[in-house]
Amino acid sequence: MEEVSRRNFLTTAINVLIGIWAACAAGLSGFAGIRYIWPTEKTAGPPGEDKVSFPAADLPEGGMKKLVIGGKPVGIIKSNETLYALSLICTHLGCIVNWHPEQNRLVCPCHAGTYDLNGTVVAGPPPRPLPSYDVKITGDKIVVG
Ligand code: FES
Repeated sequence: MEEVSRRNFLTTAINVLIGIWAACAAGLSGFAGIRYIWPTEKTAGPPGEDKVSFPAADLPEGGMKKLVIGGKPVGIIKSNETLYALSLICTHLGCIVNWHPEQNRLVCPCHAGTYDLNGTVVAGPPPRPLPSYDVKITGDKIVVG
């Protein structure tokens, strides 16, 4: 009788440990799944300036320079000798979009939202275009905002 009780105790203890492990694994994968579907918006930075300038030589053709304007990430892109200044915050769920010069597109890493250089959505789930900022060349500086 005592042997059966010990076996039952060990079986129950192992089952409890497996249950705890499974609950932890499910919780972690659930959290990761939620993070994928609803990523945390990590876009708030220090308040920053509303108008930013930098040397025009710092932005080569096809390149992008990232700035923080009003506490938000903004990408300044030079393509075909034209300047574009766009918010880098995806309008779907707030991930930071990346510049892909070979495609001439900004692409969101979270759900593949894709924007053209005017900020217009060309693919994926984003509901609105990327907001744009005023950008111009003044002397040897690029002024944004
Ligand atoms: S956050 Fe979903 S496409 Fe950008």
